[in-house]
Amino acid sequence: MKTIDIKKLLAELTLEEKAGLCSGADFWHTKAVERLGLPAIMVSDGPHGLRKIRQMPEQIGMGESIKAVCFPTAAALACSFDVALLYTLGGTLGEECQAEDVAVVLGPAVHMKRSPLCGRNFEYFSEDPYLAGELGASYVNGVQSRNVGTSVKHFAANNQETRRMSISAEVDERTLREIYLAAYETIVKKARPWTMMCSYNCINGVYSCENDWLLNKVLRGEWGFDGFVMTDWGAMNDRVKAVKAGLELEMPASGGMNDRLLVEAVNNGTLSIEVLDQAVERILTIVKRYYEGKVEGIVFDREEHHKLARKMAAECAVLLKNDGILPLKETTKVAFIGEFAVAPRYQGGGSSHINSFKVTNALDAAKGYSMSFAKGYEALNDEPDLSLIQEAVNLARDAEAAVIFAGLPDHYESEGYDRAHLDLPACQNVLIEEVLKVQPNTVVVLHNGSPVALPWVNKVKAILEVYLGGQAVGEATIDLLYGKANPCGKLAETFPLKLQDNPSHLNFPGTNRTVEYREGVFIGYRYYDAKAMDVLFPFGYGLSYTTFDYSDLGLKVINSDGASEQNGRLSMGDTDQLEVSLKVRNTGSVYGKEIVQLYVRDAEASVGRPPKELKGFLKVALAPGEEKTVTFLLDKRSFAYYSTDLGDWFAESGAYDILIGKSSREIVLEASIELQSSQKLPLIFDDRTTFADIMAHMDDPSLFYQLMAEGFTSAAGASMSSEERRMFMEIIKATTLHSARSLAGIGMPLDKLDAILESLKR
Ligand code: BGC
Repeated sequence: MKTIDIKKLLAELTLEEKAGLCSGADFWHTKAVERLGLPAIMVSDGPHGLRKIRQMPEQIGMGESIKAVCFPTAAALACSFDVALLYTLGGTLGEECQAEDVAVVLGPAVHMKRSPLCGRNFEYFSEDPYLAGELGASYVNGVQSRNVGTSVKHFAANNQETRRMSISAEVDERTLREIYLAAYETIVKKARPWTMMCSYNCINGVYSCENDWLLNKVLRGEWGFDGFVMTDWGAMNDRVKAVKAGLELEMPASGGMNDRLLVEAVNNGTLSIEVLDQAVERILTIVKRYYEGKVEGIVFDREEHHKLARKMAAECAVLLKNDGILPLKETTKVAFIGEFAVAPRYQGGGSSHINSFKVTNALDAAKGYSMSFAKGYEALNDEPDLSLIQEAVNLARDAEAAVIFAGLPDHYESEGYDRAHLDLPACQNVLIEEVLKVQPNTVVVLHNGSPVALPWVNKVKAILEVYLGGQAVGEATIDLLYGKANPCGKLAETFPLKLQDNPSHLNFPGTNRTVEYREGVFIGYRYYDAKAMDVLFPFGYGLSYTTFDYSDLGLKVINSDGASEQNGRLSMGDTDQLEVSLKVRNTGSVYGKEIVQLYVRDAEASVGRPPKELKGFLKVALAPGEEKTVTFLLDKRSFAYYSTDLGDWFAESGAYDILIGKSSREIVLEASIELQSSQKLPLIFDDRTTFADIMAHMDDPSLFYQLMAEGFTSAAGASMSSEERRMFMEIIKATTLHSARSLAGIGMPLDKLDAILESLKR
């Protein structure tokens, strides 16, 4: 194979060719330059399967894609909390891409689930940026281990489908950094994705494609991204501004119009050739990497990958309720009810839609068991069909148990539009209520890409959430219902009691042009916890057919000089690491996997912070009676918030709680640590600087009180009781520098205040 000499190419390419390389040749390819021997590469969607469109010149890219394997969607995958599983999936997709000569998978999509209504939530991992970042990084590492690139999308703040191409997400910087950018940051730093895809929307009024702060400053400057950025399909706005802002590749193509603008800009001096060269070089670096590392002879083994999809679907499902009815016995006479038992909803609509080479359903997978079937409802019709319901009721009455396959039909959630409510179709809710009247042993299996309302939750015996679990979800469901597999997923998002409880509710999907993220960092469980609200099912929650016991929580500070300290001195610096260990035991009678979660709480926060945030998780497999030690490593970032005053992450001095949970609402072990920060927030001296601000910067704030109290009491010629002194100390905290001056006449010791300010400036 020929090699690609980028330096030589840059010297030989004409200006027109360089500009041309910065946009696609068609829907799915970069441009080739035949006269110089430069090949094109192909990109394809993603993220949970390969959607390679058969390339036909007359098609605009929306044509049929090749037969492929649909794995569980991201909403399901995230519930596995399993980084190894995500790596395996990535590697498998990478292999499929090599077999099909696809250089870049367009994914993963790592948006935060701000509202359960977002039509594309099924493609996103979580409401938690730590979880999404870790899973996304592992996926990217998996794909790229096969010398195939990824395009982490859609950068950034594309958290709704309503007006997705024009809306401006109005988000303060701290919220952006802590919630909406954090998963991308983790992926860029841990997995070095080959490419990123910018979002359609604006952030604080600036289109992502031309956002210099986002692309040049944060993505490249701060995180060290070294690939190229492409637009989402049709997301280009101002071409010249975009290339300057660090957007290299326009997709798919403007028919040459935008390329000509680049040429013009270089010719008239508004764009330097160096900036264009740099963009071309970044694109060519990826073309070269794929082309020269191309692996020949790989076969896309669909049947093998289907088996993997089945195993994965079982690892992702979440058992939400079980009054002991599950697992079912093979001999129990069960009525299977619902269209999804024969035609499962297993993926969502839009660009991620996979042309599955086969789909297996629960009814077929349960052949040989004592089971019968009634359709119960039509997926395409929301209205209850009384004859279908009656048939299902009759069947359920004659059986020993009923399993109702429910969920959201295709038209309920898709790329391109958001949901209007959380309800299941009326026909399904009526069906479930009617079946419950004759059959108390009723189980519901849910197929949905995002939380739904469950009005009958207290009446059914069990609920198994399989999300949109990929083409093998039917088999996986049977494995789980009958105990061939033990449920081991936990929710990667909160199920609220009602839509109105969601923190974005009053500001979703926004007005004509803007959507304000007024809830700030309080997204998902961060909000429900802060408001001490009841939820239907909390973040991190999921049941198993076995039980687990946690014990022996231990903390160990690892100093940056290499020495480590044992328990006892529970104090660490912000350059130290904290090792957290505990034991988990399987106390039941079957093999199972437990997802251990570590949350950190800033117990003395000086800014508004969520009561707890996920900073570690681990899935551990245990045989009955088996015990394992689980270890986490925390660092400054685990404790920090983003300080806009500092322009950096800041773990302020004080006490922090380390919380170990079976879910975000079931904390079983707890310990505390004292952290000493090496950073100080900059003190801005102006008229509105308060005494509290000043004290926060003093090594010994009590000195401030002392000097003030002395000044006042000597002016008043009296002494203060300890009660008065305590009140005085609280009251003066709000005093500002400008009010201090107007209090000088009643004893404010300005000379002492000035001396303190001087000492702090030094
Ligand atoms: C979607 C992207 C997708 C692209 C190409 C866009 O409409 O937002 O996620 O990768 O199309 O299909």
